[in-house]
Amino acid sequence: MKALVLSGGSGARLRPISHSMPKQLIPVANRPVLEYVIDDIRRLGVTDIAIVVGSWATQIQQALGDGSRFGVHLTYLRQDLPLGLADALRRAGPFLGDDDFVMYLGDNVLREGVAEIAEEFRRTRPAAQLVVHKVADPRAYGVAEVDADGRVLRLVEKPERPRSDLAVVGVYFFTSAIHASVAAIEPSARGELEITDAIQRLVADGAPVRAREYTGFWRDVGEIEHVLDCNRRLLEDLRHRVTGTVEGGAELRGPVVVEDGARVVRSRVTGPAVIGAGTLVEDAEIGPGTAVGRGCLLRSTSLADSVVLDGASISFAGPFARSVIGRSATVGPAGARAGGRAAHRLVVGDHAGVEVAARPDGAG
Ligand code: DAU
Repeated sequence: MKALVLSGGSGARLRPISHSMPKQLIPVANRPVLEYVIDDIRRLGVTDIAIVVGSWATQIQQALGDGSRFGVHLTYLRQDLPLGLADALRRAGPFLGDDDFVMYLGDNVLREGVAEIAEEFRRTRPAAQLVVHKVADPRAYGVAEVDADGRVLRLVEKPERPRSDLAVVGVYFFTSAIHASVAAIEPSARGELEITDAIQRLVADGAPVRAREYTGFWRDVGEIEHVLDCNRRLLEDLRHRVTGTVEGGAELRGPVVVEDGARVVRSRVTGPAVIGAGTLVEDAEIGPGTAVGRGCLLRSTSLADSVVLDGASISFAGPFARSVIGRSATVGPAGARAGGRAAHRLVVGDHAGVEVAARPDGAG
């Protein structure tokens, strides 16, 4: 079996972070999402993996290299425009040949993995085996109608009125039967070649299409809220490990990772949390669910349930919660340029969101 990872696309819902990095490289618990994807694929015993990349090709290639670090072999395939998941699959035709394969969307995180479902696919080899997950509101996903035996009856992409609560997870197992379906479909109303349409075509042709429910933790990191949820859950898997220094009566509670060269000084860090290599935390309170990247500065601040990317600095401000701070961003008090006035000064990138706490005087 081979694997195809889709890592093109625009990530528009993750702006402004996705202005400067692809969503598939967003760190959760200080590791890029794509690393979890590759780990999960390798656990299926699959090492021959193609990654479809778009305009962020260079960054993705720099981050993952040839895959040897993960014990896999990576081939990069270029998709110049995000013309849909089925378009990406089309481009991978020569790589995939007649082999069975797993197609894994590069923004999906399945904490408990898909090993059992892969096993079932290998045993039964239906034309397509989907992974579905019950969600309260499936309108943002592909939605599957499945009978009591696990046979897929119908698939619809992002329906306004879903006919089931089963969202299609971004992990699909296929035999080579999918290629003819992909070749036969037309672009959807939003101009994309939809994988959902290609699979629906298999169903219409009477080919066996099955679905297995995945009951573990699943998110796609297409939205900031999902990034924060993922971060929180994956931090819970970290074991307490301190290779940096903890000084000046600083306190670590619960599972906390303090990486090489990081310093925690006169602060309290409550796990699950990770403090990245070379970061300084001073006179600060870091709460659970927080991942701080490399080379950051957190001074006289308080932060919980948040993701701080490499090189960012937060000082003399807060408290902050459920925040995402981009690479080398600075958050802090007015400097000389603000003339010492008691006013906030913001330099906020395109499509950024700033939510402020209510003012104590109720003035809004
Ligand atoms: O996350 C699960 C959902 O993923 C499914 O429920 C939907 O049925 C499926 O269509 C997909 O929906 P999204 O709208 O979330 O797809 P998105 O555009 O975010 O793309 C998913 C991944 O595929 C992402 O890593 C980017 C990549 N991609 C996307 C497009 C449109 C490509 O590589 N090429 C593309 O042309």
